[in-house]
Amino acid sequence: MPQRPYMIDQLISAKAIAARIESLAREIGDEFRDTDKLVVVGLLRGSFVFIADLVRELDLPVEVDFLEASSYGDAMESSREVRILKDLRAAIEGRDVLVVEDIVDTGHTLSHVTRYLMTRKPARLKTIALLDKPSRREVDFTADWIGFSIPDEFVVGYGIDFAQRNRNLPFIGKVRFTED
Ligand code: IMP
Ligand code: MG
Repeated sequence: MPQRPYMIDQLISAKAIAARIESLAREIGDEFRDTDKLVVVGLLRGSFVFIADLVRELDLPVEVDFLEASSYGDAMESSREVRILKDLRAAIEGRDVLVVEDIVDTGHTLSHVTRYLMTRKPARLKTIALLDKPSRREVDFTADWIGFSIPDEFVVGYGIDFAQRNRNLPFIGKVRFTED
């Protein structure tokens, strides 16, 4: 499918993201100070840049794992039906887990993933999302930590894609369609 032409306008700078992550890492450090080894679970693929920066700010013993849930595909709309495409390698029963997501939009993905992981009886399961679009929520879900709350815009960069493009932008930008 040919892509409609678009421009990207910066919404959150790389510097602002870095500063926010420093402060989130301090709060997460306080929460998990007593942990033996925190399992930090990144949701593929959108969280890969965020988790890389976040774990390097955490002054805690961590194990890093990944889980992939079905997503938008190449569209701009949530599929709503969430499936697990790639499961964890780590056994999480009795352990402390932090799930790292790029964006909470309708809420379907994180609400499904947390219910799924809770069946494995972790000692503690917390969630963090870099971005939150509260106006788009369809199911009641609130992440324990949020980087930035944003309006209903389609965003890209810092790991987040539009039809598999723009993940490598160092900042968060919003997509603006232009006429051709
Ligand atoms: P939810 O299940 O609707 O909360 O959707 C969460 C997922 O949708 C995120 O993990 C993203 O992969 C994707 N998503 C939501 N909003 C955007 C966006 O603005 N740009 C790119 N992906 C998005
Ligand atoms: Mg995603």
